[in-house]
Amino acid sequence: MKTLEVYNLQKKYQQGKKSIEALSGLSLTINAGEVLAFLGPNGAGKTTSIKMIAGLIRPDAGWVRIAGCNPHSNPQALRMLGAVLEGSRNLYWRLTPQENLEYFGVLRGIGRTVARKQALKLLDQFGLMHKRSTPVKALSRGMQQKLAIAVALVHKPSLLLLDEPTLGLDVEACQNVKALVRQVASEGCAILLTTHQLDVAEEISDRVAIIQKGKIIAEESTEEIIRRFSGSTYTIKFEGSLDPIQITKIEALGAIIEAEKIIYTGTKPGLYKVLGILEPLPLSHVKQDQSDLTQIFLKLVREYNHD
Ligand SMILES: Nc1ncnc2c1ncn2[C@@H]1O[C@H](COP(=O)(O)OP(=O)(O)O)[C@@H](O)[C@H]1O
Ligand SMILES: [Mg+2]
Repeated sequence: MKTLEVYNLQKKYQQGKKSIEALSGLSLTINAGEVLAFLGPNGAGKTTSIKMIAGLIRPDAGWVRIAGCNPHSNPQALRMLGAVLEGSRNLYWRLTPQENLEYFGVLRGIGRTVARKQALKLLDQFGLMHKRSTPVKALSRGMQQKLAIAVALVHKPSLLLLDEPTLGLDVEACQNVKALVRQVASEGCAILLTTHQLDVAEEISDRVAIIQKGKIIAEESTEEIIRRFSGSTYTIKFEGSLDPIQITKIEALGAIIEAEKIIYTGTKPGLYKVLGILEPLPLSHVKQDQSDLTQIFLKLVREYNHD
C-alpha cells in the first residue's frame, strides 16, 4: 500500500522581483514499511518538499496524499504524520522524556492512558527508560535525537519525516539511530529520510530518490542503483605463477597483471576469457568493483547539470 503519494508538486518563491522555482513537478511515493532516502545538493528543494508533505507550505500545483488524505485540506492527515524537521525542536527542554512523550501524545489526541502506555513502550524500545525522569536539557545529543524521533512516533503515525536525523551525532549514537529507523520501518511505518550522509542512506534505505533543481532525476531501489552504476572492473586474485603464453594472452585482452592479481575492465564474456586462460590455477578471489552511493550521486548530479 502507498502510504505517501506526492504528485507533480510545483512551487515558486517570490524574492523581490525575482521568482525562484523551488519545485518543478516533483512526484514520489513511499510504501508502508519502506525507507526512502531523499538526496540532493543544497537548494535542490528537499526542505520545501518535506514542508509541503507536512502541510506547512501550499503547492502552486500538484497534490500530496498521506494514507489517502490530503494534508492541505484534511486535518486528519496530520494525525498520520510524524516529523523531525530541520532546525526545529519538537521537545520541551525542561520536561523529562516521559513527560514530553505523554504531553505530545495527548496533544495529538490519543488520550492520557494510551499516551502513558505508548510513552513507556517507546522509552523501552529507544533505550531511554533509565533516563525517563531526567530533564531533556541534561541528556546527550544522541539521546535527545532518539527522543525527538520517539516523540514524532507517539501517536503511531503511518508516515515519518526525518530531516538529517544523524547529523552531528557520534558514531555510536549514529549507529543507534540507524538501527531504530530500520526497526520503526519494520513495524510498518513509511519513512522519508533526508540526509547528506550518503553512507547512512546506503545502509538504511530501501529506495533512493535524487532531487536536483526541484525535480527527481533518479528514483530506484538502493540495491538496484548501486548495481546499475557499479563499474565493470574486476579484480582477480590467483595462486601460483603465470607462464609467458598466459601472460601474452591475458595482456592481449587488455588486462593488467600485477603480483598474483589481475585487473580487468570490460565485459562479462571478456572476464570469462581471462578466467579461462588462468585455468587450472586456483583462484582466491574474483570481485566486481562496487560503486557506492556517493559516487553515483555525484555522477548523476554532474550529468544532470550538463544537460
Ligand atoms: N522562503 C523562501 N523564499 C525564497 N526562496 C526560498 C525560500 N525557501 C527556499 N527557497 C529557495 O528554494 C530553493 C529550494 O530550497 P530548499 O527547499 O530549502 O532546498 P534544500 O532543502 O534541498 O536545500 C532554493 O533555491 C532556495 O534558495
Ligand atoms: Mg534543506
